[in-house]
Amino acid sequence: MNYKISPSMLSADFANLDRDLKSVEAGGADWLHVDVMDGHFVPNITIGPDQVKCLRKTIDLPFDVHLMISEPLKYIERFADAGADIITVHVEVEDDTRECIDLIKKSGCKASLVISPDTPIDVLAPFIDDISMILVMGVYPGFGGQKYIPETTERLKGIRAMIGDRDVDLEIDGGVNFETLSTVVEAGANVIVSGSCLFGGDMKKNISRFREIMDG
Ligand code: DX5
Ligand code: ZN
Repeated sequence: MNYKISPSMLSADFANLDRDLKSVEAGGADWLHVDVMDGHFVPNITIGPDQVKCLRKTIDLPFDVHLMISEPLKYIERFADAGADIITVHVEVEDDTRECIDLIKKSGCKASLVISPDTPIDVLAPFIDDISMILVMGVYPGFGGQKYIPETTERLKGIRAMIGDRDVDLEIDGGVNFETLSTVVEAGANVIVSGSCLFGGDMKKNISRFREIMDG
């Protein structure tokens, strides 16, 4: 399995962002998970394309941009221009999912869909041949540091079965730590987002411990 680790910058110290993001890169992460929240789709606000553009100067890792915003169609091109590599949109937003996928690809990025805990996984089926990744939320989107929802495990297994032999990554986001990691990996996740766990203590040691568990 091609495992990737994508630390969520939501748990970084924003007063020391340069230092924290360099620790992600030096710690051996594969991607940087960038959480974008608009205070409307989720009850929290983070950063926009201008800030993503600044981050691009600090760090060379691929940017895995998770858009928790109500109107992604309005902003996809701006995030692509800002340096996003993978753009993930929620299937729950009102904007047309197919239009979002097409615009992400047209903008030169890899297209990915994310599904929140209460949404049936079948909604993904019509798009599976047109995306490079599916992101499954292990918590309700909006905040770092929440507890993993146990029902997520069956959802991961169902989506892994749906993916079959297609070249589509399965990413998990929310509540992943040293205790829950083996469960999500056994259920089929191969891209691991983690914020509070990886940023708690030494990033490099934490990433090494993640890799040991994943290879275990
Ligand atoms: C939550 C965000 C996550 C969050 C994960 O809405 O999408 O990326 O930062 O944080 P942890 O790993 O602490 O659950
Ligand atoms: Zn996220």
